[in-house]
Amino acid sequence: HNHIDNATVEKVEAAIAADDTHAHVPDYEVLETYKKSSGYDALLKLRDGGDWEAVQAQITDSGLRGLGGAGFPSGTKWSFVRGNAGPRYLAVNGDEGEPGTFKDRYYLERTPHLFFEGMLIAAWAVEAARCYIYMRDEYPAVLEILRREIAALEQAGIVEPGYVELRRGAGAYICGEESAMIESIEGKRGLPRHRPPYVAQVGLFGQPTLVHNVETLHWIARICREGPEVLNATEKNGRKGLRSYSVSGRVAQPGVYLLPAGSTITDIIEAAGGMAEGHVFKAYQPGGPSSGLLPASINDVPLDFDTLQPLGTFIGSAAVVVLSDQDRARDAALNMLRFFEDESCGQCTPCRVGCEKAVKLMQQDSWDQPLLEELCTAMADASICGLGQAAPNPIKLVIEHFKDEV
Ligand code: NAI
Ligand code: SF4
Repeated sequence: HNHIDNATVEKVEAAIAADDTHAHVPDYEVLETYKKSSGYDALLKLRDGGDWEAVQAQITDSGLRGLGGAGFPSGTKWSFVRGNAGPRYLAVNGDEGEPGTFKDRYYLERTPHLFFEGMLIAAWAVEAARCYIYMRDEYPAVLEILRREIAALEQAGIVEPGYVELRRGAGAYICGEESAMIESIEGKRGLPRHRPPYVAQVGLFGQPTLVHNVETLHWIARICREGPEVLNATEKNGRKGLRSYSVSGRVAQPGVYLLPAGSTITDIIEAAGGMAEGHVFKAYQPGGPSSGLLPASINDVPLDFDTLQPLGTFIGSAAVVVLSDQDRARDAALNMLRFFEDESCGQCTPCRVGCEKAVKLMQQDSWDQPLLEELCTAMADASICGLGQAAPNPIKLVIEHFKDEV
């Protein structure tokens, strides 16, 4: 930016804005089509004297949990936000920056109005004065779809002009952390805040804010349209519900697979067409790099919220990356730590310095395990946000399961 004057920036931005061909917009369900299948009937009925607690009860009954990755009970959040005096806001986290996660994009590029209806139902439930959608700029087609369909919703009178505001993220992973996202929407640098207070109490512009992930809102609409059974009727391996697994790596058919929440890695690889030709299953990332790596031998655990805790990891946003005999777990872990080093906001020392130091130690032929373990403890105990707290997981799990490599 130091070398580009404002006039040039404006010229380039105007050229991009005038050329909507830069984004390949796939066929998706437009407002008209969605309305033909009773789209927005649920919302309009609720707005006409509906009971928000009845909707909350349905959501709780469905078992819906936050699908950004933390799995916090979605309905419970509504009470937290409503418990604080307004004006209240709704902020949608569409920053989907977790490497290997692409389920939100998948749904938005196909059925954006399920997301919009869910968002407007949640906004109605907490009496939100305004909705902010924070969308990853690396998804140009999604941004274009959202722009078009917000305009269509305004034209159809389903939302007031300006009620839904679209904000573009600028490629910083940390801006997907909800409090950093809120700072970013406010126009500041995306630094995570200390909690408490939670954003439900003090969020956007100091006001109570409901933050939901894109996919969570998609399911809120489906629950209101189809009932809680849409999730709770599926049971497998003692787990209820469905998960949208983003599957990539050494599988034959990478993609998003909607499977029972009780699915194991064996089921997930099978759904993705098996291993890619010539590859033998060796390890997997169960839910984003902060979940580290598990060996292929752990293949009978349902990949769901809570089930991976005893193994020192978690499902997160269900970003499953499959590694084969042609990969080294230590290289994958180093790659993950390099990512965290790059993406650390630098606000706190254990994370900023810890990630950098870990990368250096992990590049040595033989890992200094006691020193790395000490570093992991300091980072997990003393970092402000989830990035620094979970960054040591790949190191810990490689030491535990792939000792021969390090
Ligand atoms: P968290 O557990 O701290 O919070 C989850 C949600 O519950 C937040 O909205 C928080 O405000 C709310 N909450 C929790 N306790 C509360 C309380 N007592 N009162 C009111 N509200 C409360 O988890 P966090 O840090 O928000 O998310 C971590 C997860 O995010 C990780 O599991 C990781 O997998 C995932 N993640 C997902 C990414 C993606 O691209 N989808 C990117 C990076 C991380
Ligand atoms: Fe920033 Fe890392 Fe500290 Fe989070 S843990 S606030 S990303 S320095």
